[in-house]
Amino acid sequence: MTKQPLLAVEGLEVIIKRKETVMPVLQQLSFQIEQGEVFGLVGESGCGKTLTCLSILNLLPAGISQTGGHIRLAGTSLDGLATAKWRELRGDRIALIMQNPMSAFDAIRTIGDHFIETLLAHGKTDTRAAQVAAIEYLERVGLPEARLLLRQYPFELSGGMLQRVIIAIALAQQPDLIIADEPTTALDATAQVQILDLLAEVRREFGTSILLISHDLGVIARLADSVAVMFGGQIVEQASVSELFAQPLHPYTQSLMNARNRIGLPRRKRLSLLPAAAIEASSSASGCGFSGRCPRVSPVCRITFPKQVTANASGHWVRCLDINGAQMGVV
Ligand SMILES: Nc1ncnc2c1ncn2[C@@H]1O[C@H](COP(=O)(O)OP(=O)(O)OP(=O)(O)O)[C@@H](O)[C@H]1O
Ligand SMILES: [Mg+2]
Repeated sequence: MTKQPLLAVEGLEVIIKRKETVMPVLQQLSFQIEQGEVFGLVGESGCGKTLTCLSILNLLPAGISQTGGHIRLAGTSLDGLATAKWRELRGDRIALIMQNPMSAFDAIRTIGDHFIETLLAHGKTDTRAAQVAAIEYLERVGLPEARLLLRQYPFELSGGMLQRVIIAIALAQQPDLIIADEPTTALDATAQVQILDLLAEVRREFGTSILLISHDLGVIARLADSVAVMFGGQIVEQASVSELFAQPLHPYTQSLMNARNRIGLPRRKRLSLLPAAAIEASSSASGCGFSGRCPRVSPVCRITFPKQVTANASGHWVRCLDINGAQMGVV
């Protein structure tokens, strides 16, 4: 029997309805995350990273809906799952870590209230057992004085400490998958590195799979095994991290790399490297979403949705009409 991936997203299609108009925001999105794998999703603001997470968790906001595709967790389809089952699944099997840790807490309740309530809702039978588990996991994520911490309010903790608390709450439920949506963006540089190191340790120690979302290729490179590059609601390239850095194929991936490499340049010069951002996903379902900004664009790119082209046997693929298999030695 072949081993199932932990998470399989297949052909996901999501639309936004605004008055009379319907705009595709995620198109033909497919990727898989293996057991114990850190999978990075990278792309600029507005490309659809958060909507991808929310789709996986069945938490899309009003006016935004999934119109196609399937999501499977360890081989089991999540299509049409009952509301009560979704509630169990979130937290128990998939935990979400958001960008701004403060927004995850109610300001007038202590860390202990949050931690213990979550554990009671997800399996722990009494407050005493929940408290013991809370202390254990707070210490495991490097927060000393855990007993005291349980009596503190969110505003008494730094952003880095709050993010650690969120990771501790997630771990205490022993999820199979952690979705970390820009987990370090709101933190200072030192806390950023510490949280990324903590996530690496979590994967090593608990074997948890992680979907790591960032607009920063450096963050992805530090932690992920594989990476999908997203632009305008589509994955335009996917590869192992080492492969993507060695041979970026899509013009958008290349521009991301160039922008990174030239980070030492004066600000004015850096900005000119990426043409003005088309922040919103392409409203045309037919053409390539990057055609408006692509240095290698040809007329066909504006009318044809690019298919996946396989670059090699190790799973590197790209969606670009300028690239074909024969060109890359793959027919
Ligand atoms: N609640 C909403 N209502 C209407 N449009 C939305 C909503 N949430 C997201 N969008 C739109 O969907 C697109 C994708 O948004 P999403 O939040 O997934 O982007 P993102 O890649 O996570 O960006 P960021 O890096 O800024 O977090 C954007 O064009 C955004 O404006
Ligand atoms: Mg986002």
